[in-house]
Amino acid sequence: MDNVKVLVTGGTGYIGSHTVVELQNAGFEVIIVDNLSNSTIESIARIEHITGIKPHFENIDCVDYVAMDDMFSKYEGIKAIIHFAASKAVGESVEKPIMYYRNNVNGLMNILDLMPIHGIRNIVFSSSCTVYGQPDVLPVTEDAPIKPATSPYGNTKQICEEIIRDVIHSGAEMNSILLRYFNPIGAHPSAEIGELPVGIPSNLVPFITQTAIGLREKLSVFGDDYNTSDGSCIRDYINVVDLAKAHVLAVKRMLENKQDVALECFNIGTGKGTSVLELISAFKKVTGVDLPYQIVGRRSGDIEQVWADSTKANSVLGWKAESTIEETLLSAWRWEQKLRASLIEK
Ligand code: NAD
Ligand code: WQD
Repeated sequence: MDNVKVLVTGGTGYIGSHTVVELQNAGFEVIIVDNLSNSTIESIARIEHITGIKPHFENIDCVDYVAMDDMFSKYEGIKAIIHFAASKAVGESVEKPIMYYRNNVNGLMNILDLMPIHGIRNIVFSSSCTVYGQPDVLPVTEDAPIKPATSPYGNTKQICEEIIRDVIHSGAEMNSILLRYFNPIGAHPSAEIGELPVGIPSNLVPFITQTAIGLREKLSVFGDDYNTSDGSCIRDYINVVDLAKAHVLAVKRMLENKQDVALECFNIGTGKGTSVLELISAFKKVTGVDLPYQIVGRRSGDIEQVWADSTKANSVLGWKAESTIEETLLSAWRWEQKLRASLIEK
């Protein structure tokens, strides 16, 4: 796939930056569009540091139709799009629903509108296991029913999936792959790129690493009275580099016309559930760092347990989660340590 152009929206963000690295490693020419609303321009230099290649970068808001149109004209010949750009904080989405619908839905609509105008047929969309809610059957397959969304953020993912489905059903010459991520964690082994939460992290692993490094006093475990083996919630934690590689395979599948149908959907998870308490003990074991924590009440809106059946991604996409949870937690820890050291230097 040498020099085939791929547009990555949200490419300076957490999952986007790791995906840009894997796309460049696979020979693609990457154009990043990001408005830096939840990332920094430093990602570009960090990506270049890892791969030796500087991706094209445009500071554009996907919601700006004219700017997106101009960008597509500038980089004529884009063959595929990976659309990461979205706001993703569940709690914030409850407070600012309009902002979430505008950003996540309008950004996608602009892209879908502009694709045929610029002769682009292929789009990978970042979806989420949040669309399954609390599944009735575990592990959850792609055929499981979509449950009513519990937040505006989750609803944007469902709406975006439906919009893509409707556009394809309308007969548009378009192919799409929806990737439903489970819980992405960890960082690139170089510790050059990783997750950069703004303020107090709401996700578990950044809270763990920030507590371990001394930025937070202790971790609160949200509930130990669930109907699980140790009473804490269970999730499927997927290594971000493994996740990034799924995007490269999805793009190749579309470009090589290997899709069975124009719209396909894949769960991207490890297939293994890990409880919050198991994750804490794995973190302590691999890092040797003490992690103060306390059990507190349940967090509102949390589902009890979910993990993926990724058989379809394994057999159809040819993708497999390779990293162990220990390797992944260590990568998150190395990233946190390097990040704090670099911030102190500044
Ligand atoms: P992130 O916030 O690190 O990355 C998103 C990037 O998009 C950021 O760099 C941000 O600046 C940019 N962006 C946001 N709105 C934009 C806009 N209108 N125009 C241009 N750029 C814009 O988030 P992430 O964790 O890398 O998530 C990437 C995608 O994956 C999102 O769509 C998210 O909903 C989805 N997802 C994430 C998770 C997760 O737990 N991280 C799980 C499932 C799905
Ligand atoms: C994991 C587990 C918490 C923090 C969210 C979004 C979801 C998806 C992924 C995008 C839960 C527990 C957490 C803490 C804790 N994003 N926890 N103490 O809730 O599975 O999913 O991110 O699509 O949409 O909702 O991830 O990392 O917040 O929580 O005990 O300080 O850790 O209760 O069981 P979650 P998370």
